[in-house]
Formats: sequence, C-alpha cells, structure tokens
Amino acid sequence: MINYTEKIPNNVDLGRDRVLQRALEHWQPAYMGWWYDMGPNESHNYEVYLRTAISVEPDGWAQFGYVKMPEYRWGIFLQPRDEKREVNFGIHKGQAAWQEVPGEYRSTLRRVIVTQGDTEPASVEQQRMLGSSCPSMYDLRNIFQVNVEEGRHLWAMVYLLHRYFGRDGREEAESLLARRSGDADNPRILGAFNEPTPDWLAFYMFTFFTDRDGKFQLCALAESGFDPLARTCRFMLTEEAHHMFVGETGVGRIIQRTCEVMKENNVEDPSDVRALGVIDLPTIQKYLNFHYSVTLDLYGSDVSSNAANYFTSGLKGRFRETKLEDDHVLADAEYPVSEVVGGKILTKQVPALTALNERLRDDYIEEIADGVGRWQRVIDNAGTPFRLTLPHKGFHRAIGNFAGHFMSPDGEVLSEEAWKNHEFEWLPSSKDYAYVQSLMSGRVVEPGKFANWIAPPARGINSQPLNFEYVRFN
Ligand SMILES: [Fe+2]
Ligand SMILES: [Fe+2]
Repeated sequence: MINYTEKIPNNVDLGRDRVLQRALEHWQPAYMGWWYDMGPNESHNYEVYLRTAISVEPDGWAQFGYVKMPEYRWGIFLQPRDEKREVNFGIHKGQAAWQEVPGEYRSTLRRVIVTQGDTEPASVEQQRMLGSSCPSMYDLRNIFQVNVEEGRHLWAMVYLLHRYFGRDGREEAESLLARRSGDADNPRILGAFNEPTPDWLAFYMFTFFTDRDGKFQLCALAESGFDPLARTCRFMLTEEAHHMFVGETGVGRIIQRTCEVMKENNVEDPSDVRALGVIDLPTIQKYLNFHYSVTLDLYGSDVSSNAANYFTSGLKGRFRETKLEDDHVLADAEYPVSEVVGGKILTKQVPALTALNERLRDDYIEEIADGVGRWQRVIDNAGTPFRLTLPHKGFHRAIGNFAGHFMSPDGEVLSEEAWKNHEFEWLPSSKDYAYVQSLMSGRVVEPGKFANWIAPPARGINSQPLNFEYVRFN
C-alpha cells in the first residue's frame, strides 16, 4: 500500500531516509510553484473527478473522487521489488539487478533519467490553456487527469535523481522546473516537447502519438538493469495507458462526428464540411502527418553509438526485451536501416546494436498503424469514401538518415522546391489551424453536452454516466 500519512505519499519507506525526505520536501514547494504557474490555467479551485493511486498492486492503484488539483497526492510509487530480478541483456546479463547506480554509468544514467523527466512537465506546459476551449466536461476531466499524472511522472524521475545522484541529481531536479516548453532561452530538451499544442485536435493527436513515444521509452527503461528505474517506469506505464486512450478515442470521436455530419448532409467537399462546423478529414490527415513525423524524431538517429552503449551496459533494453528470443547481447546480429542515396531510398544492414533507436521506432510504428486502422474503421463504418494513411517514415523528419531530405508522404524523394509547393497539402497551414481553433472559441461545460465537432464517448469515466458532473467549478 501507499503511505498517505506522510507529507509525500510513497511506497518506498521515505520516512526512514531523513536526508532524502528533507531534499524532496525542499523540492516540493518549488514543484507547487511550477504547478501554480504552469499547470492548467485557472483551474486551482476546481474540484475534479480524478483517479488517484492507492496501491501499486494491479487491482488497487486507482481510486476515484473529487480532488482540487493542487491537492492531488503526487507521490513516489514503485512497482514492488522482485528479489530475484537480474540484468537481462548486455554485457552484465545474468548479474543481480543493480540496486545502486554503477559508478561507471552514473552520468549516462542521469542523462537518461533527466531526458525522460523533462518530457513530463513539458506536456503539462504545452496543454495548459486548453481548459478554456474544452468540448465537454468529460474531456476537461480527462485532460486534467493526464496533467496531474504527468506531474506525478516528474515526481517519479525526481525521486530517482534525489535518491541516487546526490548533489548533481538535486541540481537536475531544479532545472526540470526551470526549463519551459517553447522558451527561446531555456527550452525543454526534446523537439516535440517545444511544439505548441494549440487546440484539442492537436491535444488528442499528441496523446495518441507522443504519449505513445513515452510508453515505448518507458517500456525500454522498464527493462533496465538499474532496478529502481525499472520499477519506477513499470508503475508509470499503468498511468500512460489512459493518456493514449484519451488520444485515440478523442481523434476517433472527431472522425465519427465528421462522418455523421457528412452523411446527414450528403456532402464531401472539405469546404462544405467546414461550413457545417466540423473538422474535414483532410485536415485530420494533415494533423496526423505532423504529429507522427515530429514524434518519430524523438527516437533519435537511426544509427547511434549511444543507443548501443545504453544497451550493452544494461541501462536501456528493447521493447519487451525479456520476451524476445535471442541472445540479448546482439554481438553479431544485424538490423535494416534506410538511407537516401542519389535520390533513392536504400536499405542496408547495420550492426543491430547501433540500430536500437530505429528498432524501437519500428516497434512504435507497428502499434501506431493498428490505431490508425481503428480510426479507418470508424470512417468505413460510416460508409465515407476516405482513406487515412500513415506517411512514409522519412516524411518531414529533422533527425536521423532522412533529415535534410524532402520526402513526400508517399516516400518519394523530392527537391526542396517541389516539396515546398505541396507542404500545406500535407501539413496543417495557418489557415487550417485558424479554422480548427475557430470551432473552439469557448468551452462546453454543461454536464452531458458536447461541442458540435466531436461525438460523445461510448461510455463515461469509471462507469459514470455521460452527464455526470466530472468537474465542479466552484
Ligand atoms: Fe508521462
Ligand atoms: Fe503521458
């Protein structure tokens, strides 16, 4: 169970480690200051129907009730320890999993934890203005749930920094509260976390695409030989599933509503569709292209000696490492990566160890493709003749072998000029953003009501009805 009697809820026996407890209690007010400044705008007095973890066991980690978000019980929850756990890959394979940081990997591990930790507050900052244009009380509650859990994920990473990295760790924890998404002088570490999330379509796309990158990174870190990191990430993953659910169903409901309106009014032309106050399918495709491509960059270079080192040293595994049937060392294995040579895409085999970023990206793409297939079924079931497609993985990339090339969504290598001529057929233009935002000029918060541009969900949260008062505004 989680101990809620302490100032910082935890299941790591924090009360027995006075030094650590003091360090975290010192960081807590700074965190609250960040939440008041950068957390959801104007929300501090709202009572929100949120789930809170009460135990880390599979069946007991979510309890629902009204909470004012600044009083949310952020805390430190790790999956229980498995005494027999080993390092399962790399050159230390077969050793007992590490309970302390191996000295030689200290700075690498700190970097990995800081990079993950930095994404958590970043997304809260990116989403902070969206409450004022929510399409329903149900959706407002969902974004707040995502926000408080990203806040808790920051706590999870800060615990590791404070507990295992001494003064450097405490300084990194301060910096995590100092960087700001999109700030010119002190931005967040990774590109996608500095992009704006200007509207709800972007929010749902973000939670579908970018929170899923979070899932894959957490899955890889949940394999880590450094046991406290693995156990922290395992518990974070239980929360992440809801974020992706919000994204997938959010986009799905927008598609469903658009298709309904197209059918009822017998229109297909995007301008006719827009005239009816819903988001046309080509615009949804453009948002998809944008969020997919900027998220693919988060996996890093296709060929990377850092990725090889992380794996070899047992710090970061592959997706579902222990379920894979190979030697988990990858000394002689190869993996295909693409590159652009003379205007053509060539595939070549490289040492699998160096291609681990690409491999994780490919695992991600597989799961994304399934989700896009489920969106397509919504379109097909409505009898609407439109195909949503995932663009080629080289489209609109800024990192890796495709960076600097001008790929069409079909995978054609173009000149810069030709690409620019088509850019806004493939990516949202300022006019597209302006249109989507014009639909979201105010919030819809009457219980049970939904904005015209989105269908209601199939069911409410925690079996509550759709007209449940998910947020009390006071
Ligand atoms: Fe997160
Ligand atoms: Fe998330």
